[in-house]
Amino acid sequence: MSTPGRFLVFEGIDGCGKSTQVARVAQQRGAIATHEMGGTPLGAELRQLILGSGDAPVPMAEALMIAADRAQHIAAVIEPALSIGTDVISDRHVASTIAYQGYGRGLPLEDLLILIDLATNGRRPDLTVLLDVPVSVSLTRRGKNPDRMEQQDAEFFERVREGYLAQAKADPATWVVIDAQLPLGEVTRLVDQALKERGL
Ligand code: TMP
Repeated sequence: MSTPGRFLVFEGIDGCGKSTQVARVAQQRGAIATHEMGGTPLGAELRQLILGSGDAPVPMAEALMIAADRAQHIAAVIEPALSIGTDVISDRHVASTIAYQGYGRGLPLEDLLILIDLATNGRRPDLTVLLDVPVSVSLTRRGKNPDRMEQQDAEFFERVREGYLAQAKADPATWVVIDAQLPLGEVTRLVDQALKERGL
């Protein structure tokens, strides 16, 4: 029997450099690189409904659609890979829901935890790497056509960042916080060091 794969997640507010690290770490390990929302064909449609310019979902509708995206992603991409010993590196996962829908939108965390458990069947990342940047830096790195979430104000993103830092503080065994304002080479070194230190 093969050893189950490792499940590593990169998190942070927009412009923190997650995608660069996800692609790099996945290539380095021969792992699958994936993302939430939109890591499956169904998820891509849900992502468009959630972030596009159509009828704006109320916060709970948004959370439920995100849970649907995640349930599909877990069942169709993440679990099949882990079960055959392939590592999975995901750009965002459950911590985004606590940070954005909980701290950002103000939904009760206990409700979100129920949705997360239903969607993931209890699967949790082996490590979540938070690439932390101040909101002011994130705002300057933003693209020209902000989606529905990116159109939120700076206070929203301050709460999201606080939500990430609170999760990291509460669970140091499975989280690492890296200052993503450091030069890219240094961020890369710290990511690799964190994985090595944890035997991942
Ligand atoms: P991305 O631009 O990193 O692909 O993420 C798309 C947006 O989706 C981003 O603004 C964060 C948001 N999001 C949530 O609000 N909750 C979630 O659970 C996830 C996975 C993403």
